[in-house]
Amino acid sequence: MQALVLAGGEGTRLRPLTLTRPKPAVPLVDRPFIRFMIDWLARHGVDDVVMACGFRAVDVRAAVGDEIPGGPSIRYLEEPEPLGTAGPIRLAAEAGMLADRFFVLNGDVLTDLDLTAHLAAHEERDALASLALYPVDDPSSYGLVRRGEDGAVRGFLEKPDPADIDTDEVNAGAYVLERSVLDLIPAGRAVSIEREVFPRLVGQGLYGLRLEGYWMDIGTPERYLQASWDILEGRVETAVAARMGADGTGIDELAEVEAGAMVSAPAFVDEGAQIAATATVGPRAVIGADCEVGEGAVISESALLAGCIVGEGATVEGSILAAGVEVGAGAAVTAGAIVGEGARVEAGAELDADARVEPGGIAA
Ligand code: GDD
Ligand code: MG
Repeated sequence: MQALVLAGGEGTRLRPLTLTRPKPAVPLVDRPFIRFMIDWLARHGVDDVVMACGFRAVDVRAAVGDEIPGGPSIRYLEEPEPLGTAGPIRLAAEAGMLADRFFVLNGDVLTDLDLTAHLAAHEERDALASLALYPVDDPSSYGLVRRGEDGAVRGFLEKPDPADIDTDEVNAGAYVLERSVLDLIPAGRAVSIEREVFPRLVGQGLYGLRLEGYWMDIGTPERYLQASWDILEGRVETAVAARMGADGTGIDELAEVEAGAMVSAPAFVDEGAQIAATATVGPRAVIGADCEVGEGAVISESALLAGCIVGEGATVEGSILAAGVEVGAGAAVTAGAIVGEGARVEAGAELDADARVEPGGIAA
């Protein structure tokens, strides 16, 4: 089975993380995010992945590679300009890469939904297109899907107005499509599958299936962090479980956690990281490979990507540090800050709530 992964969005809501890396290549816990998706697809029999990437195809390729031992083959489709969520499907067909029936996935969703059941329902119903549906509290930032008992879709409303919300089921960004759907995708321009294709397929073989399991769009800082804790706490089925200890902390055997350091579950300390004896890490912390956490530093509710240095007595709380960030002694990075790759927070500085520091920048 083939899957086309839409991985060409700009990831604006995750800036500055996505200024130096495309969203699929942004690390989550211990691997580039997109690896979680590929593992999930492989578990459901996908052996051929087409990554639709946009202009940052090279970076995605560098993070993922062409082959994953025992995993699916991966090919990259580079769009000359962003073609939206349907345009890449046409481009893949024109490039001779597309099968007769295939999955299309939004490339920013961490999930373990049952794609095998999704495909079986599609076949049983003889559908042209099938949408995985998932219930959420507030559908307004998603695609609202109205359907009948038999699964036939009666309406598709992308980013609905509050007044139009009459169900909790939204488009989970995982489709099974028949090749004939191509007829509805105009060539040579960006096309939104949600706004231009699905509404036209209503009553014409478009079905929805509600699936149980874990599902999270990681495209905002809050959801990115929540997804990290959900992985550490085992709420979603992933390969990270093999690296977690029975006490709820995952400490790589190559990490150096000095005696006396406090590491509270859930937490993950990757290889080569050093945690000083009087430092406090967690609950809820990811310390990336080769990070250094100094004496008396406190890190909680935060994710540090590889190679960050947190000085003596500094605090990092509820924040994300991109790779290679340096936080000076006694500095406080709290309340939703995101610090871009290679940036520096000066000793003693206190960042404002929701602060953003650009890659390579200096925050005083
Ligand atoms: N290749 C390519 N080219 N991919 C793109 C492009 C493009 O021009 N534009 C967006 N994408 C990718 C994004 O990278 C992302 O993986 C996916 O398409 C969806 O785009 P988002 O920008 O993340 O959309 P959204 O989260 O607001 O809404 C979508 O996802 C929801 C579920 O998370 C819609 O599909 C909603 O209907 C859905 O409920
Ligand atoms: Mg999204």
